Amino acid sequence: GRALRLALLGCGVVGTQVVRLLAEQGADLAARVGAPLELVGIAVRDLDASRPGIDRALLTTDAAALVERADIVIEVMGGIEPAKTLMLRAIAAGASVVTANKALLAQDGPTLYAAADAAGVDLYFEAAVAGAIPLVRPVRESLAGDKIRRILGIVNGTTNYVLDQMATEGLDLASAVAQAQALGYAEADPTADVEGFDAAAKAAILASIAFHTRVPLSCVQREGITGVTADDVAWAARTGHVVKLLAIAEMTDAGVSVRVHPALVPTSHPLAGVHGAFNAVFIEAEAAGGLMFYGRGAGGAPTASAVLGDVVSAARHRVLGGRGPVESRYADLPMLPASAA
Ligand code: HSE
Repeated sequence: GRALRLALLGCGVVGTQVVRLLAEQGADLAARVGAPLELVGIAVRDLDASRPGIDRALLTTDAAALVERADIVIEVMGGIEPAKTLMLRAIAAGASVVTANKALLAQDGPTLYAAADAAGVDLYFEAAVAGAIPLVRPVRESLAGDKIRRILGIVNGTTNYVLDQMATEGLDLASAVAQAQALGYAEADPTADVEGFDAAAKAAILASIAFHTRVPLSCVQREGITGVTADDVAWAARTGHVVKLLAIAEMTDAGVSVRVHPALVPTSHPLAGVHGAFNAVFIEAEAAGGLMFYGRGAGGAPTASAVLGDVVSAARHRVLGGRGPVESRYADLPMLPASAA
């Protein structure tokens, strides 16, 4: 078939790896999709920044014009604006959208979901939650015939690394955070990690797709790890526990409860064995029972893997017809207020 035109918005750690994987695996991907995938442009803010391995001829600062000539728009720029306006413009122009933007989806996913539904295009976001781990697709598709009751997740690699270093090396919080930053796990502003904002955004997205409802970020109870001391971690160990920052989403009789806080996890639980910057999510569904998802939740290449999987899905639909799942057909379920959760 004719080539599918891909536009990339953002060329940071993830975008660079998307470009590399597209170049290295272009022929394989074309065979899987049934049409070549052609990267037609990369929107960036600063044309002159150093980007080893990136063809300068693809760079543009005119993101709005770029999205108009794409079949599939890949948004890895992050932040609320201009990402939101650009994605809505892409959807209105009939493009499929693949995004890694957890902040935007958590804050205003329903607007994007409704726009994609109305336009009849795919909106995929596997990379927005837990990086490389196939999690969004299993929740949206594989478990669509079941009833998810509860999700317990370690969805922030930085804080898991920090708590793990405190437990295994006896480090204090500040030195462990500095190590996580040096290793590149932490967000540019580590507040998003240590205060639980990053995990809260992921929890809101997961809960919304798991329970088929709208989960406002304001309804997510959030406590980060800044209050966790070396003594807490040592005491936990003496009583057969580890301290983990958990994202918890539960369907209760009173409504949906979503929260992020440090929790004592018994060492016998599968989540207790998740070390370093890894992520893991434990899902309890009525018919399926317990399911555990584990892997790398951050980093350029792992996140790019999830992005490219979404690109292949969207591309297949454009070649073969059909659409991915639609998220705007939810019921508004009662949300337990954050303070009461
Ligand atoms: N800072 C995040 C983490 C990156 O540590 O998990 C992935 O969202």
